[in-house]
Amino acid sequence: MKVIVTGGTGFLGLALTRRLLALGRLTGPSGRPEPIEEIVLFDAAPPPDRPTGLDNRARIVVGEMADRDQVFALADRDDLSVFHLASVVSGGGEQDFDLALRVNLTGMLNLLEACRARASCPRVVFASSLAVFGGDAMPPTVGDATKQTPQTTYGVTKAIGELLINDYTRKGFLDGRSARLPTVIIRPGTPNKAASSFASGVFREPLNGETCVLPVKPETMMPVAGHRTVVEGFLRLHEVEGRALGHDRAVNLPGLAVTVAEMIDSLRRVAGDRPLGEIRVEPDPFIERIVATWPARTDSDRALALGLPQDRGLDDIVRAYIEDFLPA
Ligand SMILES: NC(=O)c1ccc[n+]([C@@H]2O[C@H](COP(=O)([O-])OP(=O)(O)OC[C@H]3O[C@@H](n4cnc5c(N)ncnc54)[C@H](O)[C@@H]3O)[C@@H](O)[C@H]2O)c1
Repeated sequence: MKVIVTGGTGFLGLALTRRLLALGRLTGPSGRPEPIEEIVLFDAAPPPDRPTGLDNRARIVVGEMADRDQVFALADRDDLSVFHLASVVSGGGEQDFDLALRVNLTGMLNLLEACRARASCPRVVFASSLAVFGGDAMPPTVGDATKQTPQTTYGVTKAIGELLINDYTRKGFLDGRSARLPTVIIRPGTPNKAASSFASGVFREPLNGETCVLPVKPETMMPVAGHRTVVEGFLRLHEVEGRALGHDRAVNLPGLAVTVAEMIDSLRRVAGDRPLGEIRVEPDPFIERIVATWPARTDSDRALALGLPQDRGLDDIVRAYIEDFLPA
């Protein structure tokens, strides 16, 4: 079978692809496990050098989600599965409304239509976000059934994406699932335009011996998940029987509700004798305003009942980052 990973050369796209290559099989539209013959990593901005850990089953295709022909060309066989991760992220969406709509809505519709055009009913896993919740109408803990009142354009596009997944599934055009992600840590490399970027930077920069300037106060609380756990969550959600999801195809992935101060404590504990760069707090009203609209805690009972994994604690997440991304 063929697997398409949109946003495939991003943080989670690459981690997911490496894991898919190691697994070697997935449940195909036939409902049976099928060997993965090809993984296409579709991305508008791949890195200049081919990422490590990919074998010749993985092909990088440079392209733009908003380009219908490019997206249709990807879905060129019926034995297909899709992980849709390409997206304008939260801070980026606030800065450029038109871009957010073009990529996150038009781009997603192109992909769903390309799947609909196939004779099969491909499984599609959509990377949604807890940013579908927000604002003063939101309860302190959000669950799968909490009303969606997003407070960013990004969150609105993700909420619409979830509804589209439900409706294309209801119509039998595809077999969709939406994974509502908490903030995923620890992103390697350089910061991105996500308003939550500091939740990775607070670990990454000090471990690189660099200064981290925190745009939020240490008591800020948010749900986070480690990158390995989120990748396993995507895979599990792909493999779950559609019947087990019913009409509501969007699932809150399990997160840990932690404060920024707890992140710093965990970093110091795990780093031990490693020298660490300085952490300085300089609140940024633009970021604080966005973060304040997000949920602090999530209820993930349904995800856990479906067998999706949960991190044991922050220390494991920091150790996984050191193992996966820092030189030995
Ligand atoms: N990482 C998180 O904390 C987090 C939290 C909630 C939701 N999500 C969602 O998970 C998904 C993956 O997140 P990530 O952290 O890997 O993000 P990322 O920014 O590292 O990767 C996204 C990739 O999409 C690509 N892309 C962007 N616009 C595109 C376009 N128009 N056409 C083709 N490719 C395009 C980018 O080049 C990038 O490589 C995204 O949909 C994001 O909204 C992530």
